[in-house]
Amino acid sequence: MKPSLSEGSEHEGLAPWKISENEFPVQGTPVDKLKFFLEFAILAPSSHNTQPWTFRISDNNTIHLYSDRIRALPVVDPDDRELTISCGSALFNLQLAVSYFGYKFETSLLPREEESDHDLLAAVKVTDIDEKLEKTKDEGLKRLFNSITHRRTNRFRFDEKEISEEILSNLQFIAQKYENVWFHIEKKKKEKEQLAKLVTEGDLIQMSDKKFRRELASWIHTNRSHLMDGMPGYAFGFGDIMSLVGPFVIRTFDFGKGQAAKDKELAIGSPVLLVIGTNADNTISWLNAGLSLSNMLLYLKTENLWCSYLNQPIEVPHLRKRLGSLIPGHSDTNPQLLLRLGYSNREVLPTPRRSIEQVMIREEDSHT
Ligand SMILES: Cc1cc2nc3c(=O)[nH]c(=O)nc-3n(C[C@H](O)[C@H](O)[C@H](O)COP(=O)(O)O)c2cc1C
Repeated sequence: MKPSLSEGSEHEGLAPWKISENEFPVQGTPVDKLKFFLEFAILAPSSHNTQPWTFRISDNNTIHLYSDRIRALPVVDPDDRELTISCGSALFNLQLAVSYFGYKFETSLLPREEESDHDLLAAVKVTDIDEKLEKTKDEGLKRLFNSITHRRTNRFRFDEKEISEEILSNLQFIAQKYENVWFHIEKKKKEKEQLAKLVTEGDLIQMSDKKFRRELASWIHTNRSHLMDGMPGYAFGFGDIMSLVGPFVIRTFDFGKGQAAKDKELAIGSPVLLVIGTNADNTISWLNAGLSLSNMLLYLKTENLWCSYLNQPIEVPHLRKRLGSLIPGHSDTNPQLLLRLGYSNREVLPTPRRSIEQVMIREEDSHT
């Protein structure tokens, strides 16, 4: 089915998706190259498409990643947990782009040197950036990199087609690469139903909360909006007219029951539900969860698989505990994201992104 996207191709916020590796500034300055890598970082997913990141380049070889807490979601994400996971995803894309173009890097997570660094999440130091290097020959890395511009969150129904054991075990390999991160994969009907029940409870609780609805509505925009962030109605399957009234409807009415019924069907109907969790619940763990999330999403794209989020039971504290207790071997640890995975032929359109210039902190701007 073709979704509606009026004037979409002219939307400035969609231009970042058109980035091509051929535009890599081979003859450019180190800063030109580092900025080019960032073109891929900003295509990462983020909660409500807030894009809660800023970047600073220093010493002609290091990119600093900061959280942009002005873009926080205090109702749904009061501890900036999902905000930090989103930044971790951008960090993965950045590292992947650096590797793809043949450069080596060293990443320090939370490299706080000064008091004013409280929002500094990571520093990526790229070696030999002034050299002209060959692109990677690693086929797996190439495929992952090529998926960056094709990845989308797909909120529509997935086909019933099963996901192979090989793909599922590759997902477990991905989890193992990140410190203290675990993936729980659920294919069994009864267990999926238990998770789906928590999703429906989460929907009812969240949608009955005016503040939650108001916050959500403020990040949902019309299909014709030229805003550079947030979620256009088409990401939810809204046509142009529905996208005009959508934010008003969401803000005004408690449609928890309808949402719960829809999400239950989506959850049970997806061949796999996946919980990303961590052994601790702190900033470093959230960054690692974000790194693993983006790695997983890009890998899934190489396998023609889609993914979507059902985080409601993780966003409601008492449901998060109950969800944890359903996960064998991880009952006393910390679920971070609940996702559904599957195949679909539906075309999914990209959502806007801010430009590199909008997410860069210039050297002369101090970060306080
Ligand atoms: C940490 C995190 C949490 C998210 N939570 C949800 C969610 O609960 N529901 C949802 O529909 N999408 C969720 N998303 C998806 C974002 O809304 C999506 O990434 C964003 O709108 C940008 O769209 P894109 O992924 O298609 O580029 C989440 C994404 C991240 C990174």
